[in-house]
Amino acid sequence: MKMVSFAEFGGPDVLQLIDAEEPHAGPGRIRVAVRAAGVNPVDWRIREGQFQKVRPIELPAGVGQDASGVVDEVGEGVEGVEAGDHVFGRGSSTYGEFAVLSAWSRMPEGLTFEEAAGYPSVVETALRVIREVGVRSGQMLLVSGASGGVGSAVLQIARDRGITVIGTAGAANQDYLRGLGALATTYGEGWVERVRRLGRVDAALDLAGSGVIRELVELTGDPRKVISIADLGAPELGARYSGVTGDVPRALAEAADLISRGKLHIPVEKSYPLAEAAAAHVDSRAGHTRGRRVLVV
Ligand SMILES: NC(=O)c1ccc[n+]([C@@H]2O[C@H](COP(=O)([O-])OP(=O)(O)OC[C@H]3O[C@@H](n4cnc5c(N)ncnc54)[C@H](OP(=O)(O)O)[C@@H]3O)[C@@H](O)[C@H]2O)c1
Repeated sequence: MKMVSFAEFGGPDVLQLIDAEEPHAGPGRIRVAVRAAGVNPVDWRIREGQFQKVRPIELPAGVGQDASGVVDEVGEGVEGVEAGDHVFGRGSSTYGEFAVLSAWSRMPEGLTFEEAAGYPSVVETALRVIREVGVRSGQMLLVSGASGGVGSAVLQIARDRGITVIGTAGAANQDYLRGLGALATTYGEGWVERVRRLGRVDAALDLAGSGVIRELVELTGDPRKVISIADLGAPELGARYSGVTGDVPRALAEAADLISRGKLHIPVEKSYPLAEAAAAHVDSRAGHTRGRRVLVV
């Protein structure tokens, strides 16, 4: 089968489309014929070797953790899914024609494979940080970096739970945030004052890692009400860094329910053929994705 692999850490050019042995579904796993793979910033962070100190991998390695596709192998002990089912989920080396998934859910009616591949990791992350920051119905949540994949999910899940959101994003994404039910303002010079004018903030999420923890603590008045997923220095200012993946099967089931009820829709900004994974990484790394980027197999 064709898959994207890299044999050394480095820039996007280390990615190669190679011929590889097909993987097989071990106990508790399924294999899918991949139709689309989600591109997450973690994919290029791993490719660059950023995680070698904390979560080392051996090379050569595949790329990608999110996929949608058609089930074609069901591992021992797996129930409730069979060959031919359309699923989306998380696994490993998903940038390929076949991939093994460790967590999955049936795709909701009406969702395309491209759209479906964009959900797994960002929805798990969004549900986790909303829970960890402890924000409730009737409260105000500030989301710094609200227009990307995780931000798009946070805004819609929060709206469904009766939480009001102020989101920051670039000028081009203000209407996008409002369309997801948030109060919107731009980041950059004077943003703290603009947020204050929109309302009193009970809790805050840093999704962009743009060095705003001190301001988020100031706006909430309590470092325990600030969580970052992109700034490892957050704990030095009393805030929390959230980086441990939670209950993925539960998150996928919740995503499927929200999507089916019309409460969650994350747009795909751009699709790329598998052979253009390097271009997708360059675009993702530029840091201004609205919604999601996916590879189509
Ligand atoms: N710790 C974890 O468990 C975990 C899980 C998932 C993701 N992450 C990390 O979280 C980050 C976000 O992930 P993602 O998938 O949502 O990324 P993404 O889709 O690439 O979105 C990035 C967003 O950041 C915004 N942004 C860029 N510069 C900004 C600034 N100075 N201030 C505020 N917003 C800014 C962009 O908005 P504009 O285009 O409007 O500028 C863009 O929408 C990544 O660094 C990723 O590695 C961590």
